[in-house]
Amino acid sequence: MATSANTTTPNTLLLKNPSIFKTSTSAFHAFPISKRLSISIKCSHSATVVAPPTQDRVFNFAAGPATLPENVLRKAESELYNWRGAGMSVMEMSHRGKEFMSIIQKAESDLRKLLDISDDYAVLFLQGGATTQFASIPLNICKPQDPVDYIVTGSWGDKAFKEATKYCKPKVIWSGKSDKYTGIPDFNALDQNSDSRYLHICANETIHGVEFKDYPTPAALLVADMSSNFCSKPVDVSKFGIIYAGAQKNVGPSGVTIVIVRKDLIGDAQEITPVMLDYKIHADNNSLYNTPPCYGIYMCGLVFEDLLAQGGLVEVEKKNIKKAQILYDAIDESNGFYRSPVEKSVRSLMNVPFTLEKAELEAEFVKEAAKEKMIQLKGHRSVGGMRASIYNAMPLAGVEKLVAFMKDFQARHG
Ligand SMILES: Cc1ncc(COP(=O)(O)O)c(C=O)c1O
Repeated sequence: MATSANTTTPNTLLLKNPSIFKTSTSAFHAFPISKRLSISIKCSHSATVVAPPTQDRVFNFAAGPATLPENVLRKAESELYNWRGAGMSVMEMSHRGKEFMSIIQKAESDLRKLLDISDDYAVLFLQGGATTQFASIPLNICKPQDPVDYIVTGSWGDKAFKEATKYCKPKVIWSGKSDKYTGIPDFNALDQNSDSRYLHICANETIHGVEFKDYPTPAALLVADMSSNFCSKPVDVSKFGIIYAGAQKNVGPSGVTIVIVRKDLIGDAQEITPVMLDYKIHADNNSLYNTPPCYGIYMCGLVFEDLLAQGGLVEVEKKNIKKAQILYDAIDESNGFYRSPVEKSVRSLMNVPFTLEKAELEAEFVKEAAKEKMIQLKGHRSVGGMRASIYNAMPLAGVEKLVAFMKDFQARHG
Protein backbone atom coordinates (compact mmCIF):
# COMPACT_ATOMS: atom_id res chain seq x y z
CA MET A 1 0.00 0.00 0.00
CA ALA A 2 1.43 3.40 -0.96
CA THR A 3 1.58 5.82 1.94
CA SER A 4 2.81 9.39 1.76
CA ALA A 5 5.46 10.33 4.28
CA ASN A 6 3.15 12.64 6.21
CA THR A 7 0.12 10.37 6.34
CA THR A 8 -0.36 8.34 9.49
CA THR A 9 -2.35 5.19 9.11
CA PRO A 10 -2.62 2.18 11.37
CA ASN A 11 -0.11 0.53 9.09
CA THR A 12 2.53 3.26 9.34
CA LEU A 13 1.99 3.59 13.06
CA LEU A 14 2.55 -0.09 13.58
CA LEU A 15 5.59 -0.17 11.37
CA LYS A 16 7.18 2.87 13.02
CA ASN A 17 6.34 1.71 16.55
CA PRO A 18 6.85 -2.01 16.70
CA SER A 19 6.59 -1.87 20.50
CA ILE A 20 2.86 -1.47 20.04
CA PHE A 21 2.82 -5.16 19.22
CA LYS A 22 4.09 -5.93 22.66
CA THR A 23 1.63 -3.80 24.55
CA SER A 24 -1.73 -3.71 22.90
CA THR A 25 -3.66 -2.94 19.76
CA SER A 26 -4.57 0.46 21.10
CA ALA A 27 -3.11 2.18 18.07
CA PHE A 28 -5.97 0.89 15.99
CA HIS A 29 -8.48 2.38 18.33
CA ALA A 30 -7.02 5.82 17.86
CA PHE A 31 -8.48 5.59 14.37
CA PRO A 32 -12.10 5.92 13.39
CA ILE A 33 -13.45 2.60 12.16
CA SER A 34 -13.92 3.99 8.65
CA LYS A 35 -10.21 4.70 8.32
CA ARG A 36 -9.06 1.29 9.48
CA LEU A 37 -7.68 -1.13 7.01
CA SER A 38 -7.71 -4.85 7.04
CA ILE A 39 -4.10 -5.85 7.46
CA SER A 40 -2.29 -8.89 8.66
CA ILE A 41 1.30 -8.46 9.73
CA LYS A 42 3.62 -11.24 10.81
CA CYS A 43 6.05 -10.17 13.53
CA SER A 44 9.49 -11.63 13.94
CA HIS A 45 8.33 -13.51 17.02
CA SER A 46 5.55 -14.94 14.87
CA ALA A 47 2.54 -13.30 16.56
CA THR A 48 -0.07 -12.22 14.03
CA VAL A 49 -1.88 -8.93 14.53
CA VAL A 50 -5.04 -8.48 12.54
CA ALA A 51 -6.54 -5.03 12.45
CA PRO A 52 -10.30 -4.85 12.30
CA PRO A 53 -11.53 -4.75 8.71
CA THR A 54 -13.06 -1.66 7.24
CA GLN A 55 -16.71 -1.81 8.16
CA ASP A 56 -19.23 0.46 6.62
CA ARG A 57 -22.13 0.82 8.95
CA VAL A 58 -25.50 -0.60 8.04
CA PHE A 59 -28.85 1.01 8.70
CA ASN A 60 -30.02 -1.12 11.59
CA PHE A 61 -33.81 -1.18 12.00
CA ALA A 62 -33.71 -3.58 14.96
CA ALA A 63 -36.22 -3.13 17.77
CA GLY A 64 -33.55 -3.40 20.43
CA PRO A 65 -30.72 -3.57 21.07
CA ALA A 66 -30.90 -0.87 18.48
CA THR A 67 -28.80 1.57 16.55
CA LEU A 68 -26.90 4.16 18.60
CA PRO A 69 -25.94 7.67 17.48
CA GLU A 70 -22.77 7.50 15.44
CA ASN A 71 -21.16 10.46 17.19
CA VAL A 72 -21.82 8.78 20.54
CA LEU A 73 -20.10 5.62 19.35
CA ARG A 74 -17.17 7.67 18.07
CA LYS A 75 -16.86 9.52 21.34
CA ALA A 76 -16.99 6.25 23.30
CA GLU A 77 -14.40 4.83 20.95
CA SER A 78 -12.07 7.76 21.53
CA GLU A 79 -12.47 7.43 25.31
CA LEU A 80 -12.46 3.66 25.50
CA TYR A 81 -8.84 3.02 26.28
CA ASN A 82 -8.18 5.91 28.60
CA TRP A 83 -11.20 7.81 29.85
CA ARG A 84 -10.38 11.52 30.02
CA GLY A 85 -6.89 10.98 31.37
CA ALA A 86 -7.96 8.56 34.14
CA GLY A 87 -5.46 6.04 32.80
CA MET A 88 -8.15 3.38 32.46
CA SER A 89 -11.38 2.70 30.68
CA VAL A 90 -14.79 3.23 32.27
CA MET A 91 -15.11 -0.57 32.38
CA GLU A 92 -12.16 -0.78 34.74
CA MET A 93 -13.12 1.94 37.20
CA SER A 94 -14.36 1.48 40.72
CA HIS A 95 -18.04 2.31 40.78
CA ARG A 96 -17.33 4.19 43.99
CA GLY A 97 -14.41 6.20 42.63
CA LYS A 98 -14.69 9.90 41.86
CA GLU A 99 -14.51 9.35 38.11
CA PHE A 100 -17.50 7.05 37.91
CA MET A 101 -19.38 9.17 40.46
CA SER A 102 -19.02 12.11 38.09
CA ILE A 103 -20.30 9.96 35.20
CA ILE A 104 -23.44 8.72 36.92
CA GLN A 105 -24.24 12.10 38.45
CA LYS A 106 -23.91 13.84 35.09
CA ALA A 107 -26.06 11.17 33.42
CA GLU A 108 -28.77 11.68 36.02
CA SER A 109 -28.68 15.46 35.86
CA ASP A 110 -28.78 15.46 32.05
CA LEU A 111 -31.75 13.09 32.07
CA ARG A 112 -33.47 15.37 34.58
CA LYS A 113 -32.89 18.29 32.22
CA LEU A 114 -34.15 16.38 29.20
CA LEU A 115 -37.40 15.30 30.79
CA ASP A 116 -37.69 18.21 33.21
CA ILE A 117 -37.86 15.79 36.14
CA SER A 118 -38.56 17.53 39.45
CA ASP A 119 -36.98 16.76 42.82
CA ASP A 120 -40.17 14.94 43.76
CA TYR A 121 -38.89 12.02 41.70
CA ALA A 122 -35.97 9.66 42.14
CA VAL A 123 -34.08 8.55 39.04
CA LEU A 124 -32.68 5.03 39.37
CA PHE A 125 -30.24 3.24 37.08
CA LEU A 126 -31.00 -0.45 37.59
CA GLN A 127 -30.50 -3.85 35.97
CA GLY A 128 -32.76 -6.69 34.95
CA GLY A 129 -34.49 -5.01 32.03
CA ALA A 130 -38.02 -3.70 31.91
CA THR A 131 -39.10 -7.30 32.51
CA THR A 132 -37.83 -7.09 36.08
CA GLN A 133 -39.92 -3.98 36.61
CA PHE A 134 -43.05 -5.97 35.78
CA ALA A 135 -42.51 -7.54 39.23
CA SER A 136 -40.74 -4.66 40.99
CA ILE A 137 -43.63 -2.27 40.52
CA PRO A 138 -46.33 -4.28 42.32
CA LEU A 139 -43.80 -5.42 44.92
CA ASN A 140 -42.84 -1.84 45.73
CA ILE A 141 -46.15 -0.07 45.68
CA CYS A 142 -48.84 -2.70 46.39
CA LYS A 143 -49.89 -5.03 49.12
CA PRO A 144 -50.76 -8.56 47.94
CA GLN A 145 -54.51 -7.88 48.10
CA ASP A 146 -54.42 -4.50 46.32
CA PRO A 147 -56.45 -4.23 43.12
CA VAL A 148 -54.64 -2.67 40.14
CA ASP A 149 -55.75 -1.95 36.57
CA TYR A 150 -53.93 -2.82 33.37
CA ILE A 151 -54.65 -1.54 29.88
CA VAL A 152 -53.24 -4.11 27.49
CA THR A 153 -52.43 -2.71 24.06
CA GLY A 154 -49.91 -5.36 23.04
CA SER A 155 -47.63 -8.19 24.09
CA TRP A 156 -45.58 -6.15 26.55
CA GLY A 157 -48.57 -4.86 28.47
CA ASP A 158 -49.82 -8.43 28.59
CA LYS A 159 -46.53 -9.68 30.01
CA ALA A 160 -46.52 -6.93 32.62
CA PHE A 161 -50.05 -7.89 33.66
CA LYS A 162 -49.25 -11.59 33.94
CA GLU A 163 -46.22 -10.96 36.13
CA ALA A 164 -48.23 -8.67 38.42
CA THR A 165 -50.72 -11.48 39.15
CA LYS A 166 -48.06 -12.98 41.45
CA TYR A 167 -47.81 -9.90 43.68
CA CYS A 168 -51.19 -8.13 43.73
CA LYS A 169 -54.66 -8.42 42.22
CA PRO A 170 -54.44 -6.96 38.73
CA LYS A 171 -57.32 -6.75 36.30
CA VAL A 172 -57.21 -6.09 32.58
CA ILE A 173 -59.71 -3.28 32.14
CA TRP A 174 -59.16 -3.03 28.40
CA SER A 175 -57.44 -5.32 25.93
CA GLY A 176 -56.81 -4.80 22.23
CA LYS A 177 -56.22 -8.51 21.69
CA SER A 178 -59.41 -9.20 19.73
CA ASP A 179 -58.35 -6.50 17.24
CA LYS A 180 -54.83 -7.92 17.09
CA TYR A 181 -53.54 -5.00 19.14
CA THR A 182 -54.05 -2.25 16.61
CA GLY A 183 -55.62 0.44 18.80
CA ILE A 184 -55.79 2.37 22.07
CA PRO A 185 -59.00 2.60 24.12
CA ASP A 186 -61.27 5.58 24.44
CA PHE A 187 -60.22 6.85 27.87
CA ASN A 188 -63.76 7.99 28.78
CA ALA A 189 -65.08 4.47 28.34
CA LEU A 190 -62.52 2.88 30.66
CA ASP A 191 -64.03 1.02 33.59
CA GLN A 192 -61.37 1.78 36.19
CA ASN A 193 -61.62 0.34 39.69
CA SER A 194 -61.85 3.32 42.05
CA ASP A 195 -59.74 1.37 44.59
CA SER A 196 -57.06 0.51 42.09
CA ARG A 197 -53.58 1.24 43.40
CA TYR A 198 -52.32 2.09 39.93
CA LEU A 199 -53.20 2.03 36.26
CA HIS A 200 -50.52 0.45 34.08
CA ILE A 201 -49.96 1.22 30.41
CA CYS A 202 -47.28 0.36 27.91
CA ALA A 203 -46.74 3.77 26.32
CA ASN A 204 -45.44 2.26 23.09
CA GLU A 205 -45.94 -1.35 22.14
CA THR A 206 -42.71 -2.27 20.39
CA ILE A 207 -44.06 -5.34 18.59
CA HIS A 208 -47.43 -4.00 17.49
CA GLY A 209 -46.45 -0.38 16.82
CA VAL A 210 -49.22 1.19 18.90
CA GLU A 211 -48.37 4.35 20.84
CA PHE A 212 -50.30 6.40 23.39
CA LYS A 213 -50.42 10.02 22.13
CA ASP A 214 -52.09 11.15 25.32
CA TYR A 215 -52.56 9.50 28.70
CA PRO A 216 -55.59 8.39 30.67
CA THR A 217 -56.27 9.94 34.05
CA PRO A 218 -55.86 7.16 36.61
CA ALA A 219 -57.99 6.56 39.69
CA ALA A 220 -54.75 6.79 41.70
CA LEU A 221 -51.37 6.47 39.97
CA LEU A 222 -50.34 6.14 36.36
CA VAL A 223 -47.47 3.74 35.72
CA ALA A 224 -45.92 3.49 32.26
CA ASP A 225 -43.53 1.19 30.50
CA MET A 226 -41.75 3.62 28.15
CA SER A 227 -39.06 1.21 27.05
CA SER A 228 -39.49 1.86 23.36
CA ASN A 229 -40.33 5.55 23.28
CA PHE A 230 -38.27 6.83 26.20
CA CYS A 231 -36.74 10.23 25.43
CA SER A 232 -38.27 10.25 21.95
CA LYS A 233 -40.47 13.24 22.82
CA PRO A 234 -41.22 15.50 25.77
CA VAL A 235 -43.30 13.86 28.51
CA ASP A 236 -44.98 15.51 31.47
CA VAL A 237 -43.41 13.34 34.15
CA SER A 238 -45.64 14.84 36.85
CA LYS A 239 -48.58 12.88 35.41
CA PHE A 240 -46.92 9.59 36.37
CA GLY A 241 -46.20 7.71 39.56
CA ILE A 242 -43.57 5.58 37.82
CA ILE A 243 -41.98 5.63 34.38
CA TYR A 244 -39.62 2.80 33.50
CA ALA A 245 -37.61 1.87 30.44
CA GLY A 246 -34.92 -0.49 29.29
CA ALA A 247 -32.15 1.62 27.76
CA GLN A 248 -31.44 -0.49 24.70
CA LYS A 249 -33.81 1.18 22.26
CA ASN A 250 -33.41 4.91 22.54
CA VAL A 251 -30.81 5.76 25.13
CA GLY A 252 -28.01 3.24 25.37
CA PRO A 253 -26.95 -0.38 25.38
CA SER A 254 -28.84 -3.23 27.02
CA GLY A 255 -28.14 -3.84 30.69
CA VAL A 256 -29.43 -0.54 32.06
CA THR A 257 -33.02 -0.02 33.17
CA ILE A 258 -34.10 3.46 34.10
CA VAL A 259 -36.83 3.96 36.69
CA ILE A 260 -38.27 7.38 37.45
CA VAL A 261 -40.34 7.03 40.58
CA ARG A 262 -42.17 9.56 42.72
CA LYS A 263 -40.33 9.70 46.01
CA ASP A 264 -43.40 9.30 48.21
CA LEU A 265 -43.99 5.87 46.64
CA ILE A 266 -40.65 4.60 47.87
CA GLY A 267 -40.17 2.76 51.16
CA ASP A 268 -43.21 0.56 51.57
CA ALA A 269 -42.25 -2.54 49.61
CA GLN A 270 -43.75 -5.94 50.39
CA GLU A 271 -41.65 -7.92 52.85
CA ILE A 272 -40.82 -10.57 50.30
CA THR A 273 -39.25 -7.99 47.96
CA PRO A 274 -35.70 -9.05 47.06
CA VAL A 275 -33.18 -6.42 48.00
CA MET A 276 -32.28 -5.90 44.34
CA LEU A 277 -35.87 -4.99 43.49
CA ASP A 278 -36.45 -2.61 46.38
CA TYR A 279 -36.55 0.99 45.16
CA LYS A 280 -35.64 2.29 48.64
CA ILE A 281 -32.37 0.39 48.65
CA HIS A 282 -31.41 1.85 45.28
CA ALA A 283 -32.69 5.36 45.99
CA ASP A 284 -30.88 5.53 49.35
CA ASN A 285 -27.69 4.43 47.63
CA ASN A 286 -27.94 6.60 44.51
CA SER A 287 -28.11 3.47 42.31
CA LEU A 288 -24.81 2.28 43.79
CA TYR A 289 -26.03 -0.31 46.28
CA ASN A 290 -24.24 -3.02 44.36
CA THR A 291 -22.03 -2.87 41.28
CA PRO A 292 -24.08 -1.09 38.64
CA PRO A 293 -23.76 -1.56 34.86
CA CYS A 294 -21.07 1.14 34.77
CA TYR A 295 -20.27 1.13 31.07
CA GLY A 296 -23.92 1.09 30.08
CA ILE A 297 -24.64 4.05 32.36
CA TYR A 298 -21.69 5.90 30.83
CA MET A 299 -23.11 5.24 27.35
CA CYS A 300 -26.56 6.46 28.41
CA GLY A 301 -24.84 9.60 29.68
CA LEU A 302 -23.25 10.18 26.28
CA VAL A 303 -26.64 9.73 24.61
CA PHE A 304 -28.27 12.20 27.01
CA GLU A 305 -25.54 14.75 26.22
CA ASP A 306 -26.17 14.19 22.54
CA LEU A 307 -29.94 14.66 22.91
CA LEU A 308 -29.39 17.89 24.82
CA ALA A 309 -26.97 19.08 22.15
CA GLN A 310 -29.66 18.46 19.55
CA GLY A 311 -31.83 20.99 21.37
CA GLY A 312 -33.63 18.63 23.73
CA LEU A 313 -36.70 16.46 23.26
CA VAL A 314 -38.81 19.06 21.45
CA GLU A 315 -36.29 19.03 18.61
CA VAL A 316 -35.84 15.26 18.83
CA GLU A 317 -39.58 14.74 18.50
CA LYS A 318 -39.70 16.94 15.38
CA LYS A 319 -37.12 14.70 13.73
CA ASN A 320 -38.97 11.58 14.80
CA ILE A 321 -42.26 12.88 13.41
CA LYS A 322 -40.61 13.63 10.08
CA LYS A 323 -39.02 10.19 9.80
CA ALA A 324 -42.23 8.39 10.72
CA GLN A 325 -44.27 10.54 8.36
CA ILE A 326 -42.28 9.68 5.27
CA LEU A 327 -42.41 6.00 6.12
CA TYR A 328 -46.15 5.91 6.81
CA ASP A 329 -46.75 8.01 3.68
CA ALA A 330 -44.84 5.46 1.62
CA ILE A 331 -47.06 2.71 3.06
CA ASP A 332 -50.32 4.64 2.63
CA GLU A 333 -49.48 5.76 -0.90
CA SER A 334 -48.58 2.28 -2.15
CA ASN A 335 -52.14 1.43 -3.25
CA GLY A 336 -52.25 -1.44 -0.79
CA PHE A 337 -48.92 -3.00 -1.81
CA TYR A 338 -47.74 -2.18 1.73
CA ARG A 339 -50.14 -2.13 4.65
CA SER A 340 -50.00 -0.77 8.17
CA PRO A 341 -52.36 -2.66 10.48
CA VAL A 342 -52.40 0.07 13.16
CA GLU A 343 -55.17 2.59 13.56
CA LYS A 344 -53.83 5.84 12.09
CA SER A 345 -54.20 8.11 15.12
CA VAL A 346 -52.10 5.84 17.36
CA ARG A 347 -49.37 4.71 15.00
CA SER A 348 -46.02 4.58 16.72
CA LEU A 349 -43.28 7.05 15.82
CA MET A 350 -40.73 4.44 16.86
CA ASN A 351 -41.79 1.01 15.59
CA VAL A 352 -43.50 0.74 12.23
CA PRO A 353 -44.89 -2.71 11.49
CA PHE A 354 -46.15 -3.32 7.97
CA THR A 355 -47.15 -6.20 5.77
CA LEU A 356 -47.10 -6.87 2.06
CA GLU A 357 -50.29 -7.51 0.13
CA LYS A 358 -48.45 -10.44 -1.39
CA ALA A 359 -47.25 -12.05 1.84
CA GLU A 360 -45.12 -14.53 -0.10
CA LEU A 361 -42.81 -11.63 -1.04
CA GLU A 362 -42.00 -10.66 2.54
CA ALA A 363 -38.95 -12.88 2.93
CA GLU A 364 -37.62 -11.54 -0.37
CA PHE A 365 -38.17 -7.97 0.81
CA VAL A 366 -36.16 -8.58 3.97
CA LYS A 367 -33.41 -10.37 2.04
CA GLU A 368 -33.05 -7.71 -0.65
CA ALA A 369 -33.09 -4.91 1.93
CA ALA A 370 -30.28 -6.63 3.84
CA LYS A 371 -28.22 -6.75 0.66
CA GLU A 372 -28.67 -2.97 0.51
CA LYS A 373 -27.38 -2.72 4.08
CA MET A 374 -30.76 -2.20 5.71
CA ILE A 375 -31.00 -4.91 8.30
CA GLN A 376 -33.37 -6.34 10.92
CA LEU A 377 -36.55 -5.51 9.04
CA LYS A 378 -38.27 -8.79 9.76
CA GLY A 379 -41.36 -8.40 11.94
CA HIS A 380 -41.48 -9.96 15.40
CA ARG A 381 -41.92 -13.73 15.22
CA SER A 382 -45.30 -13.45 16.94
CA VAL A 383 -46.84 -11.18 14.27
CA GLY A 384 -44.80 -11.73 11.10
CA GLY A 385 -44.57 -9.16 8.29
CA MET A 386 -41.98 -6.44 8.56
CA ARG A 387 -41.09 -3.90 11.21
CA ALA A 388 -38.88 -0.85 10.88
CA SER A 389 -37.76 0.49 14.23
CA ILE A 390 -36.78 4.09 13.73
CA TYR A 391 -35.63 5.25 17.12
CA ASN A 392 -33.93 8.58 17.82
CA ALA A 393 -30.60 7.38 16.49
CA MET A 394 -31.92 6.23 13.11
CA PRO A 395 -30.87 9.02 10.76
CA LEU A 396 -33.36 10.52 8.32
CA ALA A 397 -31.09 9.19 5.57
CA GLY A 398 -31.80 5.64 6.78
CA VAL A 399 -35.55 6.11 6.50
CA GLU A 400 -35.19 7.83 3.13
CA LYS A 401 -33.13 4.94 1.88
CA LEU A 402 -35.73 2.45 3.13
CA VAL A 403 -38.55 4.39 1.44
CA ALA A 404 -36.62 4.52 -1.85
CA PHE A 405 -36.05 0.78 -1.58
CA MET A 406 -39.75 0.15 -0.87
CA LYS A 407 -40.73 2.10 -3.97
CA ASP A 408 -38.21 0.27 -6.09
CA PHE A 409 -39.31 -3.10 -4.70
CA GLN A 410 -42.92 -2.25 -5.47
CA ALA A 411 -42.03 -1.17 -9.01
CA ARG A 412 -40.36 -4.55 -9.54
CA HIS A 413 -42.91 -6.73 -7.81
CA GLY A 414 -46.15 -4.73 -7.87
C1 LIG B 1 -42.17 -2.08 25.57
C2 LIG B 1 -41.25 -3.11 26.14
N1 LIG B 1 -41.36 -3.45 27.42
C3 LIG B 1 -40.55 -4.37 27.98
C4 LIG B 1 -39.59 -5.00 27.23
C5 LIG B 1 -38.70 -6.01 27.90
O1 LIG B 1 -37.48 -5.41 28.07
P1 LIG B 1 -36.18 -6.19 28.59
O2 LIG B 1 -35.82 -7.16 27.53
O3 LIG B 1 -35.20 -5.08 28.76
O4 LIG B 1 -36.54 -6.83 29.87
C6 LIG B 1 -39.42 -4.67 25.90
C7 LIG B 1 -38.38 -5.34 25.09
O5 LIG B 1 -38.29 -5.22 23.90
C8 LIG B 1 -40.29 -3.72 25.33
O6 LIG B 1 -40.17 -3.38 24.05
